[in-house]
Amino acid sequence: MTTPHIIDGKSVAAAVIEECRAETAALLAQGIQPGLAVVLVGSDPASQVYVGSKARTCLDLGFHSLKIELPAETNQEQLLQVVRDLNADPAIHGILVQSPPPPHIDEEAVIRAIDPRKDVDGFHPENVAKLVLEDPTGFVPCTPAGCMKLLEVCGIPTAGAEAVVIGRSMIVGKPMALLLVSKVSNATVTIAHSRSKDLPGICRRADILIAAVGRPEMVKADWIKPGAVVIDVGINRVPDASRKSGFRLTGDVAFTEVAPHCAAITPVPGGVGPMTIAMLMKNTLQAARQLSAASIAP
Ligand code: GUN
Repeated sequence: MTTPHIIDGKSVAAAVIEECRAETAALLAQGIQPGLAVVLVGSDPASQVYVGSKARTCLDLGFHSLKIELPAETNQEQLLQVVRDLNADPAIHGILVQSPPPPHIDEEAVIRAIDPRKDVDGFHPENVAKLVLEDPTGFVPCTPAGCMKLLEVCGIPTAGAEAVVIGRSMIVGKPMALLLVSKVSNATVTIAHSRSKDLPGICRRADILIAAVGRPEMVKADWIKPGAVVIDVGINRVPDASRKSGFRLTGDVAFTEVAPHCAAITPVPGGVGPMTIAMLMKNTLQAARQLSAASIAP
């Protein structure tokens, strides 16, 4: 048992935001105002909170911020038209359609409709390919990029480390595994998922454990190799009658029982969550830089 380092995602995110502020000022001085459009279809309460904080952070940095809230009945063609209009809008450098959309929407088709040069989520197949190819002109999905930043800032070595990622989503699990195995990070990576045999045993091999499954407090103390680093990507709302909201947020890791076995661990809230927004701002600046450079190229 050790006293773990509780990784403070809020303060790391604040430092990234300050870097973004300086870069925004430099772009504004060149007459370029970074612009981000965030599209929300329907009224999922958690998505509304995320979209609201993305828009607020944009405004705080001096970005042009467009929040487009569409009714749940919006059809596929109407949503595709919104995306096409944003693709054509020179004031917009980044486009994000909040996931998950209502079930009648073909999300894959919507992602493919986004101009890959404006795909600050990094979900378009062209950006997925660039991640596989380790091409830095691509956009890295914000949540895994945020996890990597936390490991880097906390001085956690990845080279040669055994990393286990629980979850194989296109938003977190798969890109996270690619980042860890890249030539920059050099970890040995296992991707585990709901059909994996002996999940606790696989996790016990991990020097670095990334939990991204969306199951409240699934990872228990006896899944942890002593001294491991645990990054909890889960943000689950669980009913809690003692709260005014009626719920509390919990991660995919049973924090109280797991923490004493770790060298370092992220809390929920205040761990990975704030990093996602900070990395979105970084990606939007990258898009603004790359699009402006392309527009003045001979
Ligand atoms: N829903 C949960 N995380 C994300 C994200 O990073 N991007 C989008 N578009 N939707 C999400």
